[in-house]
Amino acid sequence: MNWCLFMFNSNMVFFVLEMYNVVGPAEPLFTFPGEDVILPCSIKPNTSAVNMRVEWFRLDLQDSTVYLYENGENKIMTQDQYFRGRTALFQEELQNGNASLKLSSVQVSDEGVYKCFIESNSWYDDITVSVDVGGTPPLIIVEEFDHSGGLRLLCECEGWNPKPELQWLDSKGENLASDTEETHKDAKGYKVKRRITVHDSETKYQCRVKLRHHMVQTDIIVSSKYELGFSFSNFQGNVMHIITAVAVATFVYIRRADVTLDPDTAHKYLILSEDGKQVRRGEKKQNVPDNPERFDKCGNVLGKQEFSSGRFYFEVQVKGKTDWDIGVARKSITRKGKIILSPQNGYWTVRLRNGNQYSACAGPTVSLSLKVKPQKVGVFVDYEEGLISFYDVESRSHIYSFSDQWFTEDLYPILNPCTNIKNKYSAPLIISSVNFNE
Ligand SMILES: *[C@@H]1O[C@H](CO)[C@@H](O)[C@H](O)[C@H]1NC(C)=O
Ligand SMILES: *[C@@H]1O[C@H](CO)[C@@H](O)[C@H](O)[C@H]1NC(C)=O
Repeated sequence: MNWCLFMFNSNMVFFVLEMYNVVGPAEPLFTFPGEDVILPCSIKPNTSAVNMRVEWFRLDLQDSTVYLYENGENKIMTQDQYFRGRTALFQEELQNGNASLKLSSVQVSDEGVYKCFIESNSWYDDITVSVDVGGTPPLIIVEEFDHSGGLRLLCECEGWNPKPELQWLDSKGENLASDTEETHKDAKGYKVKRRITVHDSETKYQCRVKLRHHMVQTDIIVSSKYELGFSFSNFQGNVMHIITAVAVATFVYIRRADVTLDPDTAHKYLILSEDGKQVRRGEKKQNVPDNPERFDKCGNVLGKQEFSSGRFYFEVQVKGKTDWDIGVARKSITRKGKIILSPQNGYWTVRLRNGNQYSACAGPTVSLSLKVKPQKVGVFVDYEEGLISFYDVESRSHIYSFSDQWFTEDLYPILNPCTNIKNKYSAPLIISSVNFNE
């Protein structure tokens, strides 16, 4: 405690002043929308604030009381409506001179300058605390393999003010030139996007958003272990002003196969689009010959393109459908009569029945429980490895894999759009185009 002794020459009157300093953070605080933040404010030296008046207000807003503590009470009614229910002092800390304010569920509009004013019977002092509210941390999206086998990564952040700097860095922290930068501004602030194309596997890339002295970073580890599929693991840790999220993406040197359907193999009830990218079950028989390539009992159609080596990948949109079979088949499969789909019979397929029953036709059937209903199914084949994997493209999650298979013949994509009951299931299966700007 600092005491100040005042002495007046005539009457020798003494009185003492209880002097103190109010202290707070030297730097602006940085937080994100939705988070809780503590605005530090305390008395030095250690003095109880229980009998003092503690007022928090916004310097940049007129008449805006954020919090008021007076005569041992919290004066909730004087608080600005906007802060009601979102602010609190730490009551048990007041006796230690700690008048820090907890601000919950931060909003973008909480950005500003706050004053902490502490008044005793004989003294007062205050400090200001600046609060900066950032936008979203950078989000990395694994977009596509391009035609040269490079993996396209998109990084985006939004809700930043003013415009932040968005950078891609390699594992050594060197700046990487990005393919494109896009900036948009809306009511929430700036949205910035940057894309890069990476060619090497087993390495880490970082996307960083910087604004003044704040920095938030997301890392992505690109791996060639395709068993991980498109699974995306994410975690966030808050270390001062740096948030790091790590995502693991699969890096596979594959090309997207340009699959079109072969009308000569399509069952007579199937209707193909002119470009050969769509198939649906029609109401009546098409006028087609019963040639040897054609399925006569099962509603299947094969792709035109055969694959006899390497890796390939294609995607099929299954949106709006309740039943389908998707996969690959070997060339020598029986096309006539009833067919049981299984690897033994030359079919590696996954199916949906009755809108929610997913299974792998692994002979025996393996039922699959999927958290989300895939809208697009990705099929990846590694011919030499004997691997066929199915993915939910949108959630980037793995559905099922047939591994340790042995391929000796050409493989073809196979689709069955299944029965069309009461027009309810008439949506076509659509093979995604290889044009990746789509
Ligand atoms: C302040 O004083 C209180 C009561 O004497 C004590 O419990 C507390 O630990 C002190 N705090 C500091 C930071 O010294
Ligand atoms: C004040 O109290 C809060 C909540 O317990 C704590 O986080 C903060 O560190 C305290 N400040 C000081 C200066 O002791």
